[in-house]
Amino acid sequence: MNPLTLLLPKPTSVVVHEGSFTFSGDCSVSGKGEAQHITAMFTKEINALLHLNINSSAKSEIVLAIDGTRKENNESYRISITPTAIRLSSSSQTGLFRASRTFVQLLMIARARQNDREIQIPCAEITDAPAFRWRGLNLDCARHFLSKEYLLRTIDVLALYRMNVLHLHLTDDQGWRLEIKKYPKLTETGAWRTENGKKYGGYYTQREMKEIIEYAAQRHILIVPEIDMPGHTQAAIASYPQLSCTGQPIEVSTRWGIHKDVLCVGKESTFDFVKDVLDEVTALFPSKYIHVGGDECLTLRWKRCPLCRKRMHEEDIASERSLQGYFLRRIESYLKSKGKILIGWDEIIDGGLPENAVVQSWRGFKGAEFAASSGHNTIVSPTSHCYFDYGLTYTDIEKVYSFSPIPPMLPLGDEKHILGSEACMWTEFTPESKIDSMLYPRLIVLAEALWSHPAGKHYPEFLIRLREHYPLLASRGIHVGAEYESYFSRIRYNARMAGVFFSILIRDPEAAWENLTHYQPAD
Ligand code: ACM
Ligand code: ZN
Repeated sequence: MNPLTLLLPKPTSVVVHEGSFTFSGDCSVSGKGEAQHITAMFTKEINALLHLNINSSAKSEIVLAIDGTRKENNESYRISITPTAIRLSSSSQTGLFRASRTFVQLLMIARARQNDREIQIPCAEITDAPAFRWRGLNLDCARHFLSKEYLLRTIDVLALYRMNVLHLHLTDDQGWRLEIKKYPKLTETGAWRTENGKKYGGYYTQREMKEIIEYAAQRHILIVPEIDMPGHTQAAIASYPQLSCTGQPIEVSTRWGIHKDVLCVGKESTFDFVKDVLDEVTALFPSKYIHVGGDECLTLRWKRCPLCRKRMHEEDIASERSLQGYFLRRIESYLKSKGKILIGWDEIIDGGLPENAVVQSWRGFKGAEFAASSGHNTIVSPTSHCYFDYGLTYTDIEKVYSFSPIPPMLPLGDEKHILGSEACMWTEFTPESKIDSMLYPRLIVLAEALWSHPAGKHYPEFLIRLREHYPLLASRGIHVGAEYESYFSRIRYNARMAGVFFSILIRDPEAAWENLTHYQPAD
């Protein structure tokens, strides 16, 4: 089979010509100026793959070049393959790097199917650009700590499938995972919890995080940090109890779900703390975008806190939801003063959306729709298609393949605010050792849904192509999980749902029967 037909994501255009380029030993690889760094990395990789004799006097050559005027889409690139030369080019380093990933993938596919000594690549002209500019993965390093090695390997896979964002959920009720020099207890206390009598946890020093950021930057992947607030902050409160409304000592949480102890918005010292933390975060992460969570914040404590009530009175804030809006607007303007853009989960809409915020829509498409139609950029990660911690009954690969981040009801012209999407991998029930089998193959299916143009979608063809990539992932130490729910687990799931249904029926049989027999679907 022609390896050009097996690329994933599928490039925008592949025009195949007569003849082929043969890797049979000698080959020269060159790239000047801005292309030098990518060329050095690329040369090392193809050498490791094919054991070439790379020398400058060889008859066949590979050239990497930055050329042409800069395009609007800085990830677009061309690859031209003729019998004696291969040319990878783009108007930007990012585009050239994406080209190098497509080419490395092509070699990996060809090598898996051909004789090791003589790899042939058909002559062709590839032109390519992504459909969406934000193609990411959100990894929850808080519920379970993920090792630096795991993150680096994940960055390599993201790069191979031309994704461009790794969002790290660094703080939550069950752990604070980033060293903050001004507040050492965040990691001395907040990074550890006691589970079954044993200490569990871990964190990244700023030096380690710098290494991760640099590794990703070399692969043209943006690391976006998430410091969740004002909810999901029990680990911070366990470290510094004065951050909460009660000021009472509590432990780093050992249960999942939503917690009532959150940051006190009445105390000015809370804002000082958050600003100090963000000072270190913004100094460490070059990303223009800083995620501050904003999701699932209970307001129970605020209702009873004299300082929160005083704040509401003084600022003429009518509800606790609006108090969260007040908090986030202050944080957003602080980030803006540092040249950064706030991202928050779609709950940030509920208390009044901060002026320049980007909304990450997870409770369906509604948040994205609201954000885009009110002029805000948005990242679309609905649980229905993008939560890969959920089982396959809910989201199998066919559903992921069908995904488009454009909300179905979005008014024409607002699509420009749809940046793209992220897969979400929450780790409550998934320690590092189990993530791969949940994340793959769905992650690379999403990579295709976000890069390739929807007009060319054809599921049966895609499925054949996708399966060609499992050995490639295996060569990176990744063993993919299932594509679909198995017959038996579907039966198990249906039985559980039937159990839920009957328990409702038994509690209020009349109402349940009424609903069942007189149910009228809404218009
Ligand atoms: C979320 O899943 N709480 C963003
Ligand atoms: Zn309070």
